[in-house]
Amino acid sequence: MTTVSLRGGDRVLHVAWPDGTSADFPYLWLRDNCPSGFHPQTQERQFDLTGIPADIAITDAVLDNDEIRLTWDHIGHVSRYRTDWLHANRPGIGLADPARIEPLLWRGDFPARAIPRAAASDLMTCDAALRDFLVETKKTGLSIVDGMADDTEAGIAMARRIGFLRETNFGTTFEVMSKPNPNNLAYTSHALPLHTDLANQELPPGFQFLHCLANEAEGGGSTFCDGFAIATELRSDDPDTFRLLSQTPVPFRFHDEDCDIRCHHTVIDLDLFGNLKELHFNAHLAGIFDLPADTMEAYYQAYRKLMQMTRSDDYVITTRLKGGEMVIFDNRRVLHGRAAFDPGTGFRHLRGCYVDRGEFDSRIRVLSRKKA
Ligand code: OGA
Ligand code: ZN
Repeated sequence: MTTVSLRGGDRVLHVAWPDGTSADFPYLWLRDNCPSGFHPQTQERQFDLTGIPADIAITDAVLDNDEIRLTWDHIGHVSRYRTDWLHANRPGIGLADPARIEPLLWRGDFPARAIPRAAASDLMTCDAALRDFLVETKKTGLSIVDGMADDTEAGIAMARRIGFLRETNFGTTFEVMSKPNPNNLAYTSHALPLHTDLANQELPPGFQFLHCLANEAEGGGSTFCDGFAIATELRSDDPDTFRLLSQTPVPFRFHDEDCDIRCHHTVIDLDLFGNLKELHFNAHLAGIFDLPADTMEAYYQAYRKLMQMTRSDDYVITTRLKGGEMVIFDNRRVLHGRAAFDPGTGFRHLRGCYVDRGEFDSRIRVLSRKKA
């Protein structure tokens, strides 16, 4: 049976549930989250915390079936909470999140058949298939859609089914092919060593979509590596290198006729909880390092070590995209690259776009609401 008790000295309501869990809910938290303070339609908070005394207290707490009723000493307000709602929102635990997915780290021995794969027609027509595929894509940071229509709009339509496209200085979509007067090495036939795109942006794009419309030239194979696997290994095996790469901001820059976009980032970025958040790694866009002279040597050693790891079979997988396939990867986790190709031997054309992580996660959450 659920029990409730007021612990006035600590200014908390103590709740214990039949499953053995219990939690303390601070008074101000309870008042701030009283359901009556939320707009019934938008579910946004309208309650104003400055409109109550800071020492507001509960005078009475009653458990009535699945509801807890609290009476406050300020204007006699009564708050009603469902016990299961309180359980789901226990302080220090946080609301369950279907988009919080533990990354599955992979290395160079990750077999091609283990890369999540789905048919475009299934993803375009079935929400449950899309949800499962997005979850798998987020877990590995890399997936392949096959059976894409031979249509330059097909990849864009798939990306839009997931979320808003992220526009950048290269456009809302971009054509990866050998072009005259390229403003980006991707638009040549040169090899691209493993990198993350647009590390020079304040917020580099999240998920990248590259729809292969043609890959008929000699060369042009794709490479990928899991930046989180490399960073995790460095964290445990070479903490000095990890510290330098995760604490030293270095400049990145892209500039052409129209723009000059610059940002400092650490190569390995941690979130507020100390977990791996993203990598910024792009030798083409790395600016001129501006560290003090006495830290430059140590930093270069660390940076070069990570760069060497991105050239090692221990971490890198190779594959060759075929016309009709589209690769999706988390550009802030998985590094991508390609071998040089010979444009004289055939046509190679990938069409790309990005959907940011926030949009991608939102889609997972919304699709998870429906019971498939
Ligand atoms: C890019 C890129 C990979 C490829 O456009 O940023 O890395 O296979 N392209 O051409
Ligand atoms: Zn790229």
